[in-house]
Amino acid sequence: MKEKILDYLNKKHDYLSGDQISKHLGISRQGLWKHIQELKDSGYEIVAVPHLGYRLESCPDRLFVFEVARNLNTKFIGKKIHYFDYLASTMDLAMQLGMDEAASGSLVLAESQIKGRGRLGRGWFSPKYKGIYLSLILRPKILPATCPILTLMSAVSICEAVKEVIDLDAQIKWPNDVLIHNKKVAGILTEMNAEVDKVNFVVIGIGLNVNNDKKSLIAGATSLKEQQGVEISRVVLLQEILRRIENNYLLLVDKGSSEIINKWRNFTLTLGTRVKVHYQNKHIEGQATDIDADGALLIRKDSGLIQKISSGDVTACR
Ligand code: BTN
Repeated sequence: MKEKILDYLNKKHDYLSGDQISKHLGISRQGLWKHIQELKDSGYEIVAVPHLGYRLESCPDRLFVFEVARNLNTKFIGKKIHYFDYLASTMDLAMQLGMDEAASGSLVLAESQIKGRGRLGRGWFSPKYKGIYLSLILRPKILPATCPILTLMSAVSICEAVKEVIDLDAQIKWPNDVLIHNKKVAGILTEMNAEVDKVNFVVIGIGLNVNNDKKSLIAGATSLKEQQGVEISRVVLLQEILRRIENNYLLLVDKGSSEIINKWRNFTLTLGTRVKVHYQNKHIEGQATDIDADGALLIRKDSGLIQKISSGDVTACR
C-alpha cells in the first residue's frame, strides 16, 4: 500500500486531499494516516496542510523493498528481496537461504554490515546508507569449476550499470575488483554450495562504494561520489545492476561464456600488462595474456610457458 500511496503522490506532484487519496486507493482515512506516519518515520518528507492535503517533498535514499522492486522489470532477479537495516554479513544469510531452497534470483540487501566479508579473509567496510551491499542467490546448471565466470559476469554488469547510470568508465582488475582511475570502487565475493560435479547454488556478494565521503575511504579505495562529485541514487544504480546481471546471466546460460568474456575483455585493465599473481602461498610473474572460457587468467612466464590461474590476487608490475 505504501508503494501505491507514494506512486500517487509522486504522479500528482501537488497537494492531494486525504479524501482523494483514500478514495483512489480504496482505504480508510485512518488507514491512510497510519501509512503516511510510517512513511514519514522511514524518512519520506510528506507535508500535510489543512484544507490542502498531503504533498511528497522528498524521498530518502533507502533500499526499501518497495523502492527497489518498483519498475525493476526483471524476470527473476530480485523477485524476492530480503531487506535489513543491518546484518553481520549478507553472505551468511544468503548462504542459509540457499540451503533453505530459496529461489534463484533471491536477493539479500543490508544498509550496513558489521562483519562484511571480502576475499581471502579480508573484511569489507560497510558504513550505513553509503554503499550497496548485496548477496544474490543463483542456481546455475554448471560445473563447480566454471563458477568463476559468474564473478566476471558480475563485474561486467557493475561496469555497464555505472556507465549507464552515471556515465563513468569503470574497469575490471582480474578477477573481481572494479576500479575507477585505478582505485577500487567495488568488490565481488562468490561463494558456492556444491558437490563434486554439481552446483547446488551460488551466492554472489557485491560491495559497492557509492556515497562514501573521500575522508572515510581506506587507501586505494574510491567511491562513485568521490569520482562524480555528487550524491548518487543507490536505488537507481542498484536496479540497473540487477537488470544487467539478469541480462548477462541469461546470455551466459543461453550462449555460453564467450560473449561475457568478450565484454569482460573490453572492461579489463589486466590483460596485456605485466603482473605478479599471488595464489595459494605462491606467486608468479609474467604477462597476463588472456582469460579462458571459465574465467581463469593465463600468464605467460618469462620462460614462455603459459600458466593458468583460477583464483589469486593480481598486482601490476611497473
Ligand atoms: C572483495 O573485494 O574482497 C570482495 C568484497 C565483497 C563485499 C560484499 S558486501 C556484500 C556481501 N556481503 C559480504 O559480507 N561481502 C559481500
